[in-house]
Amino acid sequence: MKRTKIVQLLQSEIPATNVLIKGWVRTRRDSKDFSFIEVNDGSCLKNIQILADSSLRNYPDISRLSTGSAVIISGNLVESMGVGQKWEILADRVEIVSLAPESYPMQKKRHTDEFLRTIAHLRPRTNKYGAVFRIRSELSYAIHKFFRDRGFKYIHSPIITGSDCEGAGELFRVTTLAPENFLKKDGITDYGQDFFGSEANLTVSGQLSAEMFALALGDVYTFGPTFRAENSHTSRHVAEFWMVEPEMAFCNLEGNMNLAEEMIKYLINFILEESKDDLELFAKFVDKNLIKTLDNVASSDFKRLSYTSAVEILKKSRKKFEYDIDFGKDLQTEHERYLTEHHFKKPLIIFDYPKTIKPFYMRVNDDNKTVSAMDVLVPKIGEIIGGSQREERLGVLEKRMEEMGMSKDTYWWYLDSRRFGSVEHSGFGLGFERLLMFITGISNIRDVIPFPRTPNSIEF
Ligand code: 4AD
Ligand code: MG
Repeated sequence: MKRTKIVQLLQSEIPATNVLIKGWVRTRRDSKDFSFIEVNDGSCLKNIQILADSSLRNYPDISRLSTGSAVIISGNLVESMGVGQKWEILADRVEIVSLAPESYPMQKKRHTDEFLRTIAHLRPRTNKYGAVFRIRSELSYAIHKFFRDRGFKYIHSPIITGSDCEGAGELFRVTTLAPENFLKKDGITDYGQDFFGSEANLTVSGQLSAEMFALALGDVYTFGPTFRAENSHTSRHVAEFWMVEPEMAFCNLEGNMNLAEEMIKYLINFILEESKDDLELFAKFVDKNLIKTLDNVASSDFKRLSYTSAVEILKKSRKKFEYDIDFGKDLQTEHERYLTEHHFKKPLIIFDYPKTIKPFYMRVNDDNKTVSAMDVLVPKIGEIIGGSQREERLGVLEKRMEEMGMSKDTYWWYLDSRRFGSVEHSGFGLGFERLLMFITGISNIRDVIPFPRTPNSIEF
């Protein structure tokens, strides 16, 4: 007898004999002659109801089955007499694999997200977090499918690097030096003693690698973990997050914006189609307007406007912001949310930011004040994508690196790509968790990643 997933049984058109499932007890109630056991195996949101007849040999044990216990059940899939479900299993065997004690923290009542974060190792067993992580899995698949269908090649960019793509200095050091050997020679670190013989850190972005491969394979993307030691205690930042980074040769900023918009719409439609049950849970318990919002975003054009126009709108709004806004200042989340939630009420793409607030690799515009950058902003979250057309002109790039005090020696290989066969190229980074937040309506990024890493928190 082969094990079946509950998700398949529930989709069955006809009854079946000799089915076998393995899962965990969600609830149990007894009637005179039967025990009704709700079992979930994680394959879908729904449980399957098991009818265990009191004539079963181990019925005394079955009637002690507690929430969280592991069971293996065989029997026949029959039409359910009860309401609310089409199928149930009339068990001929209930094997108790392990009995969960009363202290199991995941009893039937609803728990707060804050409490569940303290038991992050158990929270995927709840309906809500099961749904989050099934959607996370579907979304990962959809990303690969989106790119593969369009001829993009998947690149594995390194996790340990010697560069700081974003130049923000928010790096986690990687070293094998013992702490007492770390500071040497008049306070200066002797990296000669270290594993790589020079400074190394966890990557903040796979972009620089992706650029090298775009100039060889055409259209590429990376999808992997990235790390930032920013000490921001917000509901939208974690120290370890996943980023999707396409990079396209022979592509300008407009092509880049088109891809970003197409991709977000595709991913939303994919989840609306493939994760209906799980999404319904969020529409019911997290955000009543969720499906409407997602449908809207998937079917309407994103508003595109320049940073300069965005700043004008913000200044004219006369709204009191915590942070002042003026040309040359970065947009804060409050500004982004005002624009996308209140002013335009739809996703926005803001382009041409001042060069003083953006990294070295962005292409300098003819005004010499702005760069060909673009951010995609969505309601409730703010920035979900950051990207740009890249500076393909060797001279301009070198000058900018000098201005920013960057070492051309460290980036010699990056500059090489502008020496040999340099072309117009563009790309962006999509924050995978931020997209998941948007799709599920969940307001804290800690609740869409299995084991969140944030300042002072590395448990699990
Ligand atoms: O805007 P960012 O910093 O862009 C880059 O890293 C570029 N190198 C991408 C590229 O052009 N290939 O980051 C991209 C996205 C942000 O828009 C945001 O969604 C997400 O990554 N992000 C974070 N998500 C969670 N926690 C953090 N600390 C994040 N920092 C950025
Ligand atoms: Mg950004």
